[in-house]
Amino acid sequence: MAKAKVVVTGGTGYIGSHTLVELIEKGYEVVVIDNLNNSYANTLQQVKEITGKLPQFYCFDLCDKNALSQFFEQEKNIDAIIHFAALKAVGESVDNPLLYYHNNIVSLIYLLEAMKVNQINHLVFSSSCTVYGQPDKLPVSENAPLKLPESPYGKTKQIAEQIIADVCFTSPLQVISLRYFNPIGAHESALIGEFPIGAPNNLVPMITQTAVGIREKLLVFGSDYDTKDGSCVRDYIHVVDIAQAHVIAIERLIQQKNKKNYEVFNLGTGHGYTVLETIQTFENVTGVKLNYEITGRRSGDVEKVYADTQWANKELGWKAQRNLDNMLQTAWNWQLKLNELNMKQDD
Ligand code: NAD
Ligand code: UFG
Repeated sequence: MAKAKVVVTGGTGYIGSHTLVELIEKGYEVVVIDNLNNSYANTLQQVKEITGKLPQFYCFDLCDKNALSQFFEQEKNIDAIIHFAALKAVGESVDNPLLYYHNNIVSLIYLLEAMKVNQINHLVFSSSCTVYGQPDKLPVSENAPLKLPESPYGKTKQIAEQIIADVCFTSPLQVISLRYFNPIGAHESALIGEFPIGAPNNLVPMITQTAVGIREKLLVFGSDYDTKDGSCVRDYIHVVDIAQAHVIAIERLIQQKNKKNYEVFNLGTGHGYTVLETIQTFENVTGVKLNYEITGRRSGDVEKVYADTQWANKELGWKAQRNLDNMLQTAWNWQLKLNELNMKQDD
């Protein structure tokens, strides 16, 4: 029997591209929408190199309602959509909140409207552990109270989840929101990975760019948190584990195994590592010494957060398989590949 057809918005991006690989390897037909705001079309060639299949690609902005309607006029028999497309830089969202509310919320509303018109009832949505803020209880589970996120970016994720839940309540729409903790690492082929445009904000790209000599040193933000070594704790999770969870979520919706119209799952490993432990692990697995300096706290940082994964383990039958060593080794292999290809990363 032919496998289902899945539209992947944001499919040329970091998590989207890894998910394309997992979907194609499971036999799904994939169609990508992306405006290349934070990614490159060439990523799809890399997906082809891994899987042997070049995904069909539509380049347009999801906030362009006409382009979206034309897309659905052309592409029929869509079984499900995975909605990755969003802007995600926390600092930029503080400086330019309207850009974030417009891009992340308007695109979602237009997509939901188009899904209604075209009677497409299955959606997997990219959410984030940022919706928990600093949780009162750790590990944090899906039913923990949501706190007001520090940034407009985080607020777009909370608002999006609320919009989706409201629509599910009054329509045939079935949605799974996946709350990612800290996705890092790259595909084992080193053909796809995270490609930050401009200076990265996130820890792991900063580590690998420093280690390879693009940046002079890594700043560790804060040494006086209430953690074992004073630096912040995060639940780092391999991007391929995240990608595989999306395939399971899609299957769950298509096979109508979901228990409610709207379901939410944490995607983490359940283990928290400090920034200093992460640096130490990077040095151990790669043998590369990192030039770093401890400095003051970064505003808006949560002290510690890691996932309660029991619900995802039990209900989705999904469990993260890859450890921190593997995450950092694959991130490093990808960094070396970017350098070998002379990709510009020094903005
Ligand atoms: P990414 O920037 O690599 O990918 C997002 C893609 O969406 C990009 O290719 C971008 O060009 C595209 N896009 C953005 N706005 C668009 C629009 N209006 N129309 C069409 N395309 C658009 O980011 P990612 O790390 O792959 O993140 C994917 C999703 O996961 C995002 O929704 C992000 O908020 C969420 N998320 C990411 C993290 C993380 O740390 N990477 C953590 C939690 C949640
Ligand atoms: N850090 C440093 N130095 C750096 C960069 C980061 O010490 O140069 C520290 C941060 O202070 C934090 C930890 O490394 O303690 C992780 O920082 P990241 O920026 O990699 O990740 P965050 O947990 O801050 O943010 C991530 C995503 C956001 C999302 C958030 C919660 O980038 O999009 O998780 O989901 F909102």
